[in-house]
Amino acid sequence: MQNIVLVGFMGTGKTAVGRILAAKLGCEFIEMDEMIEAKEGCPVREIFDKKGEDYFRNLEMDTAGKVSQEKGVIISTGGGAVVNDKNFQNFKKNGLIICLEASPKVILKRTKDLASRPLLNVPDPEKKIEELLKKRAPYYKRADFCIDTDTSSAEEVADKIIKWVTKRD
Ligand code: S3P
Repeated sequence: MQNIVLVGFMGTGKTAVGRILAAKLGCEFIEMDEMIEAKEGCPVREIFDKKGEDYFRNLEMDTAGKVSQEKGVIISTGGGAVVNDKNFQNFKKNGLIICLEASPKVILKRTKDLASRPLLNVPDPEKKIEELLKKRAPYYKRADFCIDTDTSSAEEVADKIIKWVTKRD
């Protein structure tokens, strides 16, 4: 089986869907931000605060290179990972890229209480979400399959992915 690489904006459910997918398909689940946090020994928010976004993006690029060498795993990426073409090409090598989508309003609701998203920790997070979504849309659209998650549970999204992957085999 090829890797299944979940991409998409913060709050689209990549981690929740990834865990369910891995359980249903009986394969390993890799969460890139968790790998980065384990390596650095602190949360992503703190990495941004203390060392800056460029430092985080370099860690993310190293991690993308490593996880892309795996086979048959489910990978949840950070929301900005595919903006770097090198990461996208790495993910493509052994993987099917699936983008989870959501509207700005739903993203705002899902991310509101989480101080863990440094990029949204600004006075007007909704405006920031809209700006970033617009900038990132062309990168997310390069995925092999895109799913709207606005009105679906993580389990429903996971089932849609399994159906799509199985149809391709
Ligand atoms: C980011 C998304 C976050 C995390 C970091 C940057 C982004 O991951 O990688 O805060 O640029 O969109 P999630 O999408 O899992 O929240």
